[in-house]
Amino acid sequence: VATVPETTVIRPFRSREHMTRVLQFQYEVYQRNFPGFVVGRAFLADYERQLRQAERSPVEGLWVLEEQGAVIGFVWAALMSTMVDPKVGYIKNVYVVPERRGQALAERLMEQAEQWMREHGVERSALDVTVSNRTAVGLYERCGYHVQRYRMEKDLGEKEPGL
Ligand SMILES: CC(C)(COP(=O)(O)OP(=O)(O)OC[C@H]1O[C@@H](n2cnc3c(N)ncnc32)[C@H](O)[C@@H]1OP(=O)(O)O)[C@@H](O)C(=O)NCCC(=O)NCCS
Repeated sequence: VATVPETTVIRPFRSREHMTRVLQFQYEVYQRNFPGFVVGRAFLADYERQLRQAERSPVEGLWVLEEQGAVIGFVWAALMSTMVDPKVGYIKNVYVVPERRGQALAERLMEQAEQWMREHGVERSALDVTVSNRTAVGLYERCGYHVQRYRMEKDLGEKEPGL
C-alpha cells in the first residue's frame, strides 16, 4: 500500500472550487448504494442545490480531500435532531476516488467529520449504508459503527388482480 503523501490535505468544501468534481462522485455513490437507480440531470441539479445550501448551514459540515489541488475525496456530515435524540451526528456521504482506495483515506475523512461533531457537543454519530456495499460496511465497522436498527424493505411488485 502506498503511503499517503504529506500533500494530501482535508479542506472545507467550497462550491466554487469543488462542485463539479463532487457531483461527479455521486454517480458511483448513488448507483452503488441504490442498485437500479440511475443518476440523471435532475438528480444532480437537486444535489447541487442541496450542497450550496449545506455549505452555508452551521449544522452541516462538508470537506474535500485534496492532493496537489486535485479533489480525491469528499465527506458530508450533519447535526440532526430526532424525537428521541436532540443532538445526533449523521454521516450523509463519504467518497474516495477508486485509484486512491485502500489507504485509509476514508477513515481520515470520517475522523474529520466525527471531530467536528464532538466540537458541536454531539456524543453519537449515525449513518445509513446499503447491505450490499461491503466495502463501505467494512469501513464503518473499522471506524467503530455497529448495527443498532434494521431498515426493512419489501418489493411490492404489481397490484394483484381483484384487489
Ligand atoms: C467506501 C469508500 C469511501 C472507502 O474508501 P477507502 O479510502 O478505500 O477506505 P479504506 O481505505 O478505509 O478501506 C478500504 C479497504 O482498504 C483496506 N485498507 C485500508 N487501509 C489499508 C492499509 N493501510 N493497508 C492495507 N489495506 C488497507 C481496508 O481494509 C478495506 O478493505 P475491505 O474493503 O476489504 O474491507 C470507497 O470505497 C468509496 O468511495 N466507495 C464508493 C462510494 C460509497 O459507496 N460510499 C459510501 C456511501 S454509504
